[in-house]
Amino acid sequence: MKPAQENDPVLLIGPRNKRFIVYLKAGDQLHTHMGIIAHDAIIGKPLGREILSHLKKPFLVLEPSADDLIVQLPRKGQIVYPKEAGFALLRMNIHSGKRVIEAGTGCGGFTLAISRSVAPEGRVYSYEIRPDMQAVAKKNLEKLGLDSWVEFKIRDIAEGFDETDVDAVFLDLRTPWDFLAQVQDALKPGGFFGSLLPTTNQVSRLVQSLEHNNFADTEVLEILQRNYKPVPDRLRPTDVMVGHTGYLVFSRKISRNNIGVSTADYQEEALS
Ligand SMILES: C[S@@+](CC[C@H](N)C(=O)[O-])C[C@H]1O[C@@H](n2cnc3c(N)ncnc32)[C@H](O)[C@@H]1O
Repeated sequence: MKPAQENDPVLLIGPRNKRFIVYLKAGDQLHTHMGIIAHDAIIGKPLGREILSHLKKPFLVLEPSADDLIVQLPRKGQIVYPKEAGFALLRMNIHSGKRVIEAGTGCGGFTLAISRSVAPEGRVYSYEIRPDMQAVAKKNLEKLGLDSWVEFKIRDIAEGFDETDVDAVFLDLRTPWDFLAQVQDALKPGGFFGSLLPTTNQVSRLVQSLEHNNFADTEVLEILQRNYKPVPDRLRPTDVMVGHTGYLVFSRKISRNNIGVSTADYQEEALS
């Protein structure tokens, strides 16, 4: 494995699972309450090993996963968490070569996940109404060298998207139902729509609007993640659980052929 180089992101895990992402820079230091670690002690050396801080506290030095990078992103607002981001990528068939629109960019949590998936052939078109938010996202993506696959745009998406025939559109904003006409114009036939919403009343409103805007195969779901303390002889869940992040809604763009079929015809039979 190639040794750690300047500008590489590195994950440091100290006592009690305290996790830090650092971007290596000759002469820099990471200051923690468990001691100081000089970046020079990491640069030019292999990852996957342990080092000691100046207080002789142990730290693991590892290559960070996308999960670590997203959770530790410098941010100003809410992000799409890895449990939702990972599933959304698979559910919307986002992989190398795909063209994907997202809004809003926010601090770039989901942009990070999509750009890594569509590279090197595909493209992310990321729309945001607030320049200050997108500036944070841009910086976050640049540090990881992922900005080459992203076109950042400052715009209220009520004005529409520049792209057509894209493979997927993901809306992570408060009122996605207001923008379904714009989503229809941008998506290819059969293209994927996805959204993340914090409350059930928002979900109801979106599902209702999808039905009236030529979308089909709508799915609503919630992902619960329960972590366990990895202690073999006392294996049990951790004391605290993230109770709620958001609901995911997925759907597909279709053209109705006036053959007398409605959305309800595709839905599972109700048991009660
Ligand atoms: C929850 S944050 C997005 C977080 C982002 N997906 C992430 O993972 O970091 C919602 C963002 O949508 C933006 N937004 C809200 N309405 C918008 C609109 N009409 N057009 C473009 N962006 C909008 C907000 O400014 C905010 O930054």
